Amino acid sequence: MKTLLQINTSMLETDSQSSQLSDKMAENLLSRFAGMRHIKRELSKDPIPHLEHSLFQCFYDPNAAVTPAQQAALALSDTLVSELKEADFIVLGAPMYNLMIPSTLKSWIDYVTRAGQTFQFTETGPVGLLEGKKCYVAITQGGSFLGTAHDLATAYLKSALGLMGITDIEFIYAKGLAMGPQAAEAGLSKANQKIAELA
Ligand SMILES: Cc1cc2nc3c(=O)[nH]c(=O)nc-3n(C[C@H](O)[C@H](O)[C@H](O)COP(=O)(O)O)c2cc1C
Repeated sequence: MKTLLQINTSMLETDSQSSQLSDKMAENLLSRFAGMRHIKRELSKDPIPHLEHSLFQCFYDPNAAVTPAQQAALALSDTLVSELKEADFIVLGAPMYNLMIPSTLKSWIDYVTRAGQTFQFTETGPVGLLEGKKCYVAITQGGSFLGTAHDLATAYLKSALGLMGITDIEFIYAKGLAMGPQAAEAGLSKANQKIAELA
């Protein structure tokens, strides 16, 4: 049985454009693979705490997890890593916030990027351990930053996911959403067209 891991990250929850695009992409995949397991996380409702040293050290030494906070952080990281390892498909909804991804998504990345679990250090540098996964990322922008030096979210996600071996990534962009009704409609229409093509 295939597994789909979907992660929405906008603080707007159901009114969110990135979540709606991510939901559409997930629905497409679910309709293509009957019986596919669907793990869905809404990080605005169920946020992942920021990393602190006392929590992070437990990711590498489980014996260091002595306080309830440390044990909870380790358990959460183990769960998130398992979900990611089990996923055949990953769908992310990511609005651009201040030229970057939401900090909730960064926290998720911090909890799943674990040496020995999702990547490993070698003499030639880090090597990803999660190959063979297909990832779709719906990015929404109020402005229009694609192809410019300000499109940091695309570059960052390619690097951060690539570090874990997730290199087969399709980006679905809806740009210009705060640039007037026509630009917003055009941006969403292009994103929906891309989702239809990917289906
Ligand atoms: C806190 C905040 C910061 C934002 N920063 C940017 C930005 O740097 N560039 C941009 O193009 N849009 C920016 N926007 C606009 C959002 O990217 C846009 O509204 C997008 O549709 C939000 O996606 P969502 O509907 O999934 O929440 C920002 C919005 C918020 C709320």
